[in-house]
Amino acid sequence: MRTVEATNQIKLGHSHSPRSIVLDSKRAFELWAEVYDDLPNPIVHRSERAIIQGLQDIRGFRVADLACGTGRLLAQLSHLAPATCVGFDLSNAMLQKARLKEELTGRLIRADLHELPVLSGSLDLVTFSLGLSYFRNLFQVAQEIQRILKPGGRVLCTDLHPTTSELGWTRNFTLLNNHYEVTHHPHTAQDVLQAFSMYFQLGRTLDLFFGDAERDIFECAGKSALFEELRSRAALILFEWTKPAATFWAASNKPSDSLC
Ligand SMILES: C[S@@+](CC[C@H](N)C(=O)[O-])C[C@H]1O[C@@H](n2cnc3c(N)ncnc32)[C@H](O)[C@@H]1O
Repeated sequence: MRTVEATNQIKLGHSHSPRSIVLDSKRAFELWAEVYDDLPNPIVHRSERAIIQGLQDIRGFRVADLACGTGRLLAQLSHLAPATCVGFDLSNAMLQKARLKEELTGRLIRADLHELPVLSGSLDLVTFSLGLSYFRNLFQVAQEIQRILKPGGRVLCTDLHPTTSELGWTRNFTLLNNHYEVTHHPHTAQDVLQAFSMYFQLGRTLDLFFGDAERDIFECAGKSALFEELRSRAALILFEWTKPAATFWAASNKPSDSLC
């Protein structure tokens, strides 16, 4: 029998509790896929809600959802009438779960985000939910995203709020009574902004708080008190960038030996 906590991913206190099994992210996602969609997760819910709210009309757009996992966000995007809408992820297990979603037939590709099988300058929109902190080198990620976007293309990206690391929040899940913590690379907001400013114009950053839409998820898990405790803290962060129409170097990042 398996037990799953509805609040997967939320854990207050210090990381790596003695009872946790720490897994590298590749191994972790092969296991986590088994339960990722089983119960509503307030963090995933908040992330999806922010990205969907942040979209303008995407009818006719060419869209990619990076690190799409089990395809929950991708399924919602596919209902908004984009011209194409494809999810990319490295985990076979996550993609297997995504393939169970009928609307995702033919929309899923296994690929490493560092090297996407996508033509340069071909996409209008990239979404990237809760994936950033599994990448050590944000510059590589930003570069690959800018490569596949058209000039003027947008990126909507979320992650756990950088300040949650200081609070001891971990990426964790429970499967078959085992508690797992996933290794990740904590980045400050400044790290993220610096890497992406090499290639993008910043639209906005937005602190995301749990709201009434997530309250039920906490309540169903018997964690109403936790909801009240957390609702005043920024739990996630959203970044929005645009690929500029012409190549540019942000002044602060301009390498001193180039373009002189
Ligand atoms: C926490 S899950 C997020 C899934 C989904 N975007 C969501 O919001 O629920 C992170 C995902 O990143 C994927 N991932 C990690 N490293 C990757 C890489 N190098 N290339 C592609 N996907 C990767 C994992 O397989 C996993 O599905």
